Amino acid sequence: MSTLSNDEQQGPGRVIDRAIAAYYPELPGKAAVITGAARGMGAAYTEGLVARGVDVVGGDLDLDAMKATADAVNAGTRTVPADGVRGRVHPVALDVGDADGHEELAQAALAEFGRLDFWVNNAGVFPYGLAEEITPEQIDSTLRVNVQGVLHGAQTAARHMEPGGAIVNMSSVSAVRVRRGRGAYCASKAAVAHLTESLAVELGDKGLRVNAIAPGYIDTEMTRWVREDPAALEHALDSVPLHRLGAPEEVFGALLFLLSDSARYVTGHSLAVDGGSRHV
Ligand SMILES: NC(=O)c1ccc[n+]([C@@H]2O[C@H](COP(=O)([O-])OP(=O)(O)OC[C@H]3O[C@@H](n4cnc5c(N)ncnc54)[C@H](O)[C@@H]3O)[C@@H](O)[C@H]2O)c1
Repeated sequence: MSTLSNDEQQGPGRVIDRAIAAYYPELPGKAAVITGAARGMGAAYTEGLVARGVDVVGGDLDLDAMKATADAVNAGTRTVPADGVRGRVHPVALDVGDADGHEELAQAALAEFGRLDFWVNNAGVFPYGLAEEITPEQIDSTLRVNVQGVLHGAQTAARHMEPGGAIVNMSSVSAVRVRRGRGAYCASKAAVAHLTESLAVELGDKGLRVNAIAPGYIDTEMTRWVREDPAALEHALDSVPLHRLGAPEEVFGALLFLLSDSARYVTGHSLAVDGGSRHV
């Protein structure tokens, strides 16, 4: 889903956009809920899962954008598996801070697809505010979306999913590394990482797995400011051992693994997809 041309993808610091080829034969026919699915990683996850035969209920604050993404994915032709099965996207309006909205997503999955196997708590916000200046309102709104949103999603998933189901939360390299001006965000993603462990321990009783993905700099709308500011890009890439931004499709590879049977003994883990930047 990258909008970069081939030429743009060649230079240092640019993303690459080679499709992830992995195919897991157990996935076709399953159904997922993905929050924040209108754009960025959520849209890449949606497109990648549908191409592998998984039906998706996509929830987003921006319903028009969610519908446009659903239309584009549903009209798409990319199909990865040899058996040529594609899934379908059903778009729904959602504010992840609203617990009832999550229940509507679960009901939509059951009504449209008759099952619910995967839940991806992807929606997030990335506010700016220096540590001395963060307002209570900023902290509240960040935790409401990034942390409460994950908790509501996981609680809803736990109510409806059968043993074998998998939940994936979006944490960040910012859970373990300080980003100037992003104190509220870093705290929220550290909370997601720890919450993932708590959920994994308790939902293991129900046969559910809960993991997180911790991306570094991924080329989406959220990080457009980095790509558009040469100084910011240079500074960002100084902290990436692989010397480039990641593409949403590269994070999708991690999601695919965590949802698949190949990860059936993996729970409570945060999988870094960051070009190594958590070490710098
Ligand atoms: N892009 C990165 O470099 C990066 C790095 C680490 C972690 N992450 C995390 O990955 C996730 C996806 O990030 P992205 O880069 O694709 O972001 P993005 O800003 O491109 O997309 C986020 C999507 O979430 C939706 N959204 C925002 N608030 C919502 C709410 N209250 N309810 C429902 N939907 C809402 C937006 O409308 C949008 O479609 C986020 O949790 C983000 O914090 C991103």
